[in-house]
Amino acid sequence: MKIQIINGPNLNLLGKREPDIYGNQSLEDINKIVSQHCDHKNIQVTFFQSNVEGEIVNEIQKLIDKKFDGLIINAAAFTHTSVAILDALNIIKIPKIEIHLSNIYRREEFRQKSLISKAVDGIICGFGVESYIYAIDAMSKIIKNGIR
Ligand code: DQA
Repeated sequence: MKIQIINGPNLNLLGKREPDIYGNQSLEDINKIVSQHCDHKNIQVTFFQSNVEGEIVNEIQKLIDKKFDGLIINAAAFTHTSVAILDALNIIKIPKIEIHLSNIYRREEFRQKSLISKAVDGIICGFGVESYIYAIDAMSKIIKNGIR
């Protein structure tokens, strides 16, 4: 089973960035934790991060040939603004989960609207690093059992 994780803008600065909201772990730390979890579950996981909207669109488009079984995306600030990412997600047909470290529904009003939610199977947010782990577990079930 192959899962792609895409992280959006400013997530490369996790650990240094608003640690009271996003925690002290760097993206590298998080990727390590997620990789170890995936190793135990026999899942191949690949990570991509970009601060550039078009690069994220390009990466999503690569999934059109179904080389991966599922996509987990934390589009960060683009969650709230990007029709281009929404459109790209609508093109690819594999299972998709939107995630956030923070609970976006408990934050500023502008964060409480996700443009990309319409294109995903489900959303996990508010659990910090565990959001990634829960998403991996949910995705592996969806892929195995075909629950969509
Ligand atoms: C975020 C929430 C977004 O509102 C914010 O712009 C981010 C991170 C999260 O993981 O909690 O950059 O996606």
